[in-house]
Amino acid sequence: MEFPYRNFVFAVLLLSLCTISALSYTHFSPIDNYLIDCGSTGDSTVDNRRFVSDSSRSDSYSLTSTRSVLIRNEDPLDVSPRIYQTARVFTGPSRYEFEIRDKGTHMVRLHFHKLNSSKSDFGNAQFHVLVNGVVVLNDFIGGCVETPMVKEYLIWVETEKLVITFVPSRKYKFAFVNALEVISAPKDLILDTVQYLNSEKNKKSDGFVKQALEVVYRVNVGGPKVTPFNGTLWRTWVPDDEFLKSSSGWKRLYFSGRIRYQMGGASREVAPDNVYNSARVISSRNASIPNVNITWVFPVMGGFKYLVRLHFCDIASISLGLLYFNVYVNGHLAIEDLDLSDVTNYVLASPYYADFVVDGDGSGALSVSVGPSSKSYPYAIDGILNAVEIMKLNNSMGSLVGKVPADFIMKSWPRGNMGVLVPLVAAVCLLVILSMVLRRRMTGLKDSVTWSKLPMDVSNVNIKQGFPQA
Ligand SMILES: *[C@@H]1O[C@H](CO)[C@@H](O)[C@H](O)[C@H]1NC(C)=O
Ligand SMILES: *[C@@H]1O[C@H](CO)[C@@H](O)[C@H](O)[C@H]1NC(C)=O
Ligand SMILES: *[C@@H]1O[C@H](CO)[C@@H](O)[C@H](O)[C@H]1NC(C)=O
Ligand SMILES: *[C@@H]1O[C@H](CO)[C@@H](O)[C@H](O)[C@H]1NC(C)=O
Ligand SMILES: *[C@@H]1O[C@H](CO)[C@@H](O)[C@H](O)[C@H]1NC(C)=O
Repeated sequence: MEFPYRNFVFAVLLLSLCTISALSYTHFSPIDNYLIDCGSTGDSTVDNRRFVSDSSRSDSYSLTSTRSVLIRNEDPLDVSPRIYQTARVFTGPSRYEFEIRDKGTHMVRLHFHKLNSSKSDFGNAQFHVLVNGVVVLNDFIGGCVETPMVKEYLIWVETEKLVITFVPSRKYKFAFVNALEVISAPKDLILDTVQYLNSEKNKKSDGFVKQALEVVYRVNVGGPKVTPFNGTLWRTWVPDDEFLKSSSGWKRLYFSGRIRYQMGGASREVAPDNVYNSARVISSRNASIPNVNITWVFPVMGGFKYLVRLHFCDIASISLGLLYFNVYVNGHLAIEDLDLSDVTNYVLASPYYADFVVDGDGSGALSVSVGPSSKSYPYAIDGILNAVEIMKLNNSMGSLVGKVPADFIMKSWPRGNMGVLVPLVAAVCLLVILSMVLRRRMTGLKDSVTWSKLPMDVSNVNIKQGFPQA
């Protein structure tokens, strides 16, 4: 009998499909997950995410600042989300410390938006920011941030704490921040081995995961913007139009079917469905394979290395084994005859990504191209790209922005109030001890316990001063 047999196959298929989707829909919940609304007096919810006020007390994070003030936006026409309506302004070096329970890569996001305030002139906002000793911003001019800006970093943390330090560039300048995110990244987000591409040879290298990275571009090819609200890991992917350099030879593709995430392959955290279900493709319409590339060009800062992550998902082919193409990064042949069927265990619409490290050369541009290979078939798809991410690697100075090392920034701060405070405390302690000794001489040893506590209390007061004042 044929019918039950078919039923059985159908049931098995259904079961395995359910398992695959159950596996791929497991929700990622980060162990360390700090969302901080800086300078606010209450919590704010943005995109269903609750940012807690940095004035509220917590055991797991702290703010230490010699001088800081809370600033509220006074522009009634500014309709930016709530986290951008307040800021904390620092007129001296200040730091947020986050307790880390999950060692490994962390996503750190800094949110900036210039505010219109009668208390602070944002024209004077100029500062440095360090994350665990890595310089992430150097002489950052905050007054330019007319629309909300998010700076994102991937920082390897082996210590118990992650520390974000703000240092004004000079006296009379100030630092500010509107919101902070510190979130543990999934373990498969950044891999330890990457391939370096340069003119001499392509070589693999280990120990990559400990680099500090700045996310410079995160681009959804051929598709719409994906926001923290409809993506994964609360990231933003922007459309590729402004980076696309080829005016013809490609077409935009949208796929409404299901993206088949597989164990061991790219996960939904690596990139979400709505990134993989759009692409640009090269397709041959008749017997000849078009002799074209699709090229994207990204402005980058020279003197740094970049991690280029290319995302592919064959949402275009009508059947397996028909798509072969070449991938170029900065003019180097990065992958020859890429066969997406092969790398995805022969499943269509299954995502795959490849990482390359290249030198950002003096040209100030980084290019990515896909084009037909010698194995491409006519009447088929001859090139595809679904998404691109470009991340800057820290340089040998431990900086993501220039040649100024962290120690130099920390020492550069003029011995202003911080400098005065320490001798002041010392002087007060000395006076107290002196008077104590004098008193003791006069009154004997009766109340020595009470007295000996005093100097400690004095210094405590001075340290606590730094904590948030609402
Ligand atoms: C911003 O503040 C200045 C004064 O500080 C005021 O003149 C200006 O109109 C404000 N802008 C808006 C858009 O409210
Ligand atoms: C994601 O949401 C934004 C609005 O937050 C919307 O503009 C965009 O089109 C959405 N993208 C997708 C792929 O759903
Ligand atoms: C079909 O191929 C011919 C050359 O063989 C070419 O001239 C023509 O432009 C191609 N048509 C399309 C639609 O690509
Ligand atoms: C595609 O780009 C690569 C790398 O820049 C180049 O070598 C190749 O000639 C290009 N192909 C076409 C058809 O332009
Ligand atoms: C980034 O910093 C680490 C630690 O300071 C260092 O080992 C590594 O070589 C730096 N990366 C580059 C590309 O110089």
